[in-house]
Amino acid sequence: MCNLQELFEKGRWYHCFQYEGLISNGTYNIAEHIQYYKFDNDYAGKTVLDVGCSDGYFSVWMKTHGAARVLGVDSNKYDGSLAFSPSNAYKHLHEEKYALYADDYSAFKPVYDQYRLKNSNKLLLMDKLLGLGIEFQNGSVYDLSSVGEFDVVMCNDLLEHLRDPITAIEQLFFATREKCIITVSSAMKTGWLNRNKPLARYQGHISGGSFFSLSEGAVKAMCQSAGFKKVEIASRFDMKNRRHSEMNRHFVVHAYK
Ligand SMILES: C[S@@+](CC[C@H](N)C(=O)[O-])C[C@H]1O[C@@H](n2cnc3c(N)ncnc32)[C@H](O)[C@@H]1O
Repeated sequence: MCNLQELFEKGRWYHCFQYEGLISNGTYNIAEHIQYYKFDNDYAGKTVLDVGCSDGYFSVWMKTHGAARVLGVDSNKYDGSLAFSPSNAYKHLHEEKYALYADDYSAFKPVYDQYRLKNSNKLLLMDKLLGLGIEFQNGSVYDLSSVGEFDVVMCNDLLEHLRDPITAIEQLFFATREKCIITVSSAMKTGWLNRNKPLARYQGHISGGSFFSLSEGAVKAMCQSAGFKKVEIASRFDMKNRRHSEMNRHFVVHAYK
């Protein structure tokens, strides 16, 4: 009979969570980089939307830093089906990757049953463990019309995976009441040649998952065109992928209504 410790150690996790002496075996340990997101110290009373939330590290962070309401949205149903449409050439790899969520559910079903969970969504599991009251909705960044407005909207490490980052940013704008925090990975290097230029390099044929490497200038320009009044690059950092020990270049955008 499996238990929570085995699920933390051997289950399929995207984020590393610490819980009662356990650390989940995630691909990314956000705790090591949290200072670069330049969050406020306190989100007391704020409503927060986390788009492309995955395991929900940022949703949990916001709720444990005072947020009154947090909604996580993700296109992943955690039932083994594909979360997004990858390049055709690499579709089989993504199908295999997403099937692992169904495998995780079967392997650890007694643990999920214990918490009355019907799939391997780790945001819902962490929410149960911590008793936070975070909401989750299966949905797409391309249509946020049903979720309404939130004081703070986050969209971390998603834009580069999308065919259409422009529509995504427009949708984030409509969902934002005060501030939108967008983190971009696979980011274009800010060399003297491309600094502030609005560039997007297609790289879908390389990774199948990250369609574009975006420059800071491109994301800033898209935010401004969407209607954000002030757009700042809050930080730049490299994050380690724990599966491959590779560093992934990031920048963080703070956009204000
Ligand atoms: C690279 S992960 C980033 C997770 C988390 N935000 C972070 O920064 O660690 C991208 C997430 O976006 C989700 N996703 C992909 N396409 C999406 C879409 N069109 N709408 C909403 N979520 C999407 C994926 O299922 C995945 O959970």
